[in-house]
Amino acid sequence: MDLIVAKNRTDLVKARGEGSVALVPTMGALHEGHRSLIREARVRADHVVVSIFVNPLQFSPNEDFSRYPRTFDADLEACRAEGVDVVFAPSADDMYPAGRQVSVQSGEMGTIVEGAVRPGHFDGVLTVVLKLFNLVQPDVAVFGQKDAQQLAMIRRMVADLDLPIDIVGAPTVREPDGLALSSRNRYLSADERQVALTLSRALRAGAAEAVALPEGAAESVPARIRAAALAVLEGAAPRLALDYLVLVDPATFAEVSESYRGEAVLAVAAKVGTTRLIDNAVLSLDPA
Ligand code: PAF
Repeated sequence: MDLIVAKNRTDLVKARGEGSVALVPTMGALHEGHRSLIREARVRADHVVVSIFVNPLQFSPNEDFSRYPRTFDADLEACRAEGVDVVFAPSADDMYPAGRQVSVQSGEMGTIVEGAVRPGHFDGVLTVVLKLFNLVQPDVAVFGQKDAQQLAMIRRMVADLDLPIDIVGAPTVREPDGLALSSRNRYLSADERQVALTLSRALRAGAAEAVALPEGAAESVPARIRAAALAVLEGAAPRLALDYLVLVDPATFAEVSESYRGEAVLAVAAKVGTTRLIDNAVLSLDPA
């Protein structure tokens, strides 16, 4: 079937068919990471809907909303090549008609880690994602693990608001040298790209410390993980300006205690030049 492009909610309703639906919400500028989400969606439902909408609500006034890459024609080509059924690409006016009052509040979890650096960001993300869920009515929605706190917040929203949608997290796709794919990588100069590699190097250094220590060891595993990653990041200063490096519980994004055991996310955010990048690694902190 040919790709249907629905540019407003009326077209979207017309495009609705029989069978299960998987949604891949995006802000466009699609790269191989998005394409892997689409492929994941393909195997989980009869129809795949990709939304393309640069959501003004999740950018604060000093962020890169106006210069966020917009590559609509190339995005449609990518969707066609991946066998997407419907692209939903509404306008801002269609998504947010005048007079709007009510939005989603992300709670305390939306004010920590990424939310502490970007106040209001997760309120904007959850508001648009809930609207997309209501408009598209998917059975499944696929999000990248690269935005680990966003994924955790969406799972929280689905649980707290009893939304009948299966949330799937798909692994981060990386360049061969380790750089996590991101629509913002295109802003990096060749030199900056080299500096940006420090993020994934730091995560690997941290991950190498995620091994059980003998009983009574002076330093805890979480402390060693943080210290090893931080040492790598500090080596790239001042060209890399660190926002945060945290080791957190994947479900709550609260920092883990020194005695924590189980899965943890080592998350990092930093600016390289004017480009802000985030990355993370999922680690297993096993009992000694
Ligand atoms: O991850 C993104 O691209 C965006 O935050 C999302 C989920 C599409 C909401 O605008």
